[in-house]
Parts: sequence; C-alpha cells; structure tokens
Amino acid sequence: MKILVLGSGAREHAIITALLREQPRPSVECAPGNAGIAAEVAVVALDPNDPVAVADYAVLNSIELVVIGPEAPLVAGVADALRTRGIAVFGPDRAAAALEGSKTFAKRIMDEAGVPTGRAVRAGTLAETSAALDEFGAPYVVKADGLAAGKGVLVTSDRAAALAHATFWLEHGSVLIEEFLDGQEISLFLLSDGHSVLPLSPAQDYKRALDHDAGPNTGGMGAYSPLPWLDARFGSENEFVDEIIETVALPTIRQLAAEGTPFVGLLYCGLILTDAGIRVIEFNARFGDPETQVVLPRLLTPLSGLLLAAATGTLGTLPRPEFSADVAVTVVVASENYPETPLVGREITGLDAALRVPGVTIAHAATATQGDTIVSTGGRVLSVVAVGASFLEARARAYEALGQVSLEGSHYRTDIAARVA
Ligand code: AMP
Ligand code: GLY
Repeated sequence: MKILVLGSGAREHAIITALLREQPRPSVECAPGNAGIAAEVAVVALDPNDPVAVADYAVLNSIELVVIGPEAPLVAGVADALRTRGIAVFGPDRAAAALEGSKTFAKRIMDEAGVPTGRAVRAGTLAETSAALDEFGAPYVVKADGLAAGKGVLVTSDRAAALAHATFWLEHGSVLIEEFLDGQEISLFLLSDGHSVLPLSPAQDYKRALDHDAGPNTGGMGAYSPLPWLDARFGSENEFVDEIIETVALPTIRQLAAEGTPFVGLLYCGLILTDAGIRVIEFNARFGDPETQVVLPRLLTPLSGLLLAAATGTLGTLPRPEFSADVAVTVVVASENYPETPLVGREITGLDAALRVPGVTIAHAATATQGDTIVSTGGRVLSVVAVGASFLEARARAYEALGQVSLEGSHYRTDIAARVA
C-alpha cells in the first residue's frame, strides 16, 4: 500500500514508525516531515495545508491512503479535497473537524447527544465574561473558542488573570467559561469510519510545562500508556473503554452522522474522571501528541489496515486492535523558553547514544538537518520514547536516554509516569 502522511511532528514520526514495523512494509512518504522522518522515508516538499496541492499530488502519485496528522489541514479542508478526488483519507472533513476547531460546536454536539461534559457559557464581550466568571466561581476555566495550539485554556484562581486571558482571546473571537472539573485526565483515541468505532489503549498526557504540574499549559510534555489505575475504578481497561464507547464515542459519532457530517478519522476523547463520573473536557479530531508516541509502540495490530478500514467505511468488520502488555513512557525535550517564545536553530547531539539504550526510540518533533548536524526548529523538539516490562523499567530507560541528548537551554520534565503503580 502507498501511504502519504501529512505533518512534521513527533506524532507523525510515531505514526510512520508504526507503519514501517509492519510485514509486509507499506510504502510511506511524508509531507513535509522533519529530520528524523527524512532519515526513514521519502519526504515531499508539499504544503500540508493546501487542499489542491495535496489532492493533486496524491492523484498524480497513486497514493492509496492519506493520513492527516495535525488539525490545521483538517480545518483547511484537505480531507474534503482528497475525498472529492476519490482518495482514501484518514481524517475528517472540515465540517466534522469543527469538533476540535470550535468549542461551541463541540459543546452543542455533546448537548444534543447527551454526552457528559462540564457546564459552559459562551461570552462574546468582557462584561459577559465577567458575569460568567462570577456565576461559576473560582477556580476559573477560560477557553478560546477556536484553535489555539494548546495555549487557549487558562485554569486559574486569579480573577484578574482570567479576565486578562479572556481579553486577549476575545480579540480573536469568543471565549468559553467553563465549570472547573477535578480528577485524573485520560486521553482515549478511537478510530471512526463515520458509523463504527474501534478503541486504542488509553494514555495520560502531562500538559503543564514543569514538574509537579507547575507552570503554563503546553502542547504536552510527556505521556504514558496504559493506565493501570483504571482497574481499581472500572475493573479493567476494557470495561472503562466500553463505558466511553457507549456514553461518549458512539453518541457523538451518531450525532455527527445524523447532521450529515460523518466523522472519519481519529476521535480523541479528552476525559476527566471526576467523583461524579466521567466528563469530556475536549474532543480533538486527530491523534494526540505526545500520547500517540506511547500508544502506537504498544499496538500489535497492523496500523495501516486499521486506518484504511476507517477511511473506507469498513471498521465494523474488524476486531478490536490488540496491545502489548508492555508499558510505554515518553518525555518531551523542549527548547529554551518554551512554551512562551522558544529559542530555535540550536544543534542537537547525542541521539545515537540515546538510541543505544534498550527499548528506546526517538520521535523527532521539530528538527531539521543543517549540513551534517541536526538543529531544533520549534518548541517541542524531540519525544524520547521507552518501552519496558514495567513503568520502573520504561522510565529508567527514557531518562537514561535523555541523559545522552544535548541541546543548549532545553528542558524536560523529570516526573513523567513517576507515580504510576
Ligand atoms: P483543553 O485544551 O480543553 O484540553 O484544556 C487544556 C487543559 O486544561 C486540560 O488538559 C485540563 O488540564 C485543563 N482543563 C480544561 N478544561 C478544564 C476544566 N473544565 N476543569 C479543569 N481543568 C480543565
Ligand atoms: N496532547 C494533547 C493534544 O494532542 O492536544
């Protein structure tokens, strides 16, 4: 099979690594990719956000499946353009991607479908924001309505800070003020063909920049999978997953289908386990980053078959994907000054030594080759991934590998998966 992956981050690198593990190996290329991806597959200088350019390329090059990594191409209508031209694509049309692109849209779908989520009020002015903050009380949760690259949400007990955040985002549209939800967070990915879903194994993401969940929200600083603590509350991972399929995923997929906007691709359920039950914090319309880096290394079922079945409406004929009992941990190496204004263009060394640690792979996030060297090009630079028989082993491997990597001014969290049973 000839597959084109769109994107340039660690998520896309992890997707490609999973595809290349298959026997027989599919033919994989990536646009635009990064230094790590370019070392493994052909990269194409193509703007992944240009629907016409991507569709033309796919038709001309007999691509059989396009896998869309990030949200921007989805919102730009790249999946629509590919489907119109008869190319199988893993990723929703623009209208269904609004599940991620518009929090107001997502809340409406959840309301109609009866999906449990936090109460929220939309505010278009500062006066409305102020009234909503007082209605909900502290801690305050303020969210930008549109795509904000992981920086749109502020959770704070400081009313002035909540108002300042709202003031900034009101200039770009409206904001949502939401009820504060307390509990463990879970990322659950479900493949969807528009009507049926198949679950992947759950993961947990570390959103804050610094150890012990201090510092600002980021795109994600680390993750682990599976989540052994789910057993105590649900009996097993499977029972938890069954509950989410019945109460969250299928109602959402059915609602979107009923509205004429079927969701084909990856339904990312961002969940919070409160004392009162599960609540959806957000949906995303694509694989999560860095969770993908810990979910896919554990996947035993060939990924390409699953993605193609979702893209072609045949997911209902397949059994649930299988996962290894091994655990996976990933730690993100971030540039100096991430998430504010990351300093980039610095040389990265020690990658070969890091890769010699057993069970370790490195998903490149923001790298480019410059002559003989690899340099950083963005905020989240590398995702060091370690698989092991236990969290103790996987963590030890990940941090040993991290000790080998040098990037001036970079930082990473030291507490990823530290308290997992
Ligand atoms: P989001 O971009 O919606 O995933 O939000 C980013 C992060 O903000 C989440 O992963 C949570 O840690 C936090 N968050 C979002 N909504 C809430 C909420 N209603 N209550 C508590 N924390 C929240
Ligand atoms: N890890 C959070 C996200 O992908 O949005």
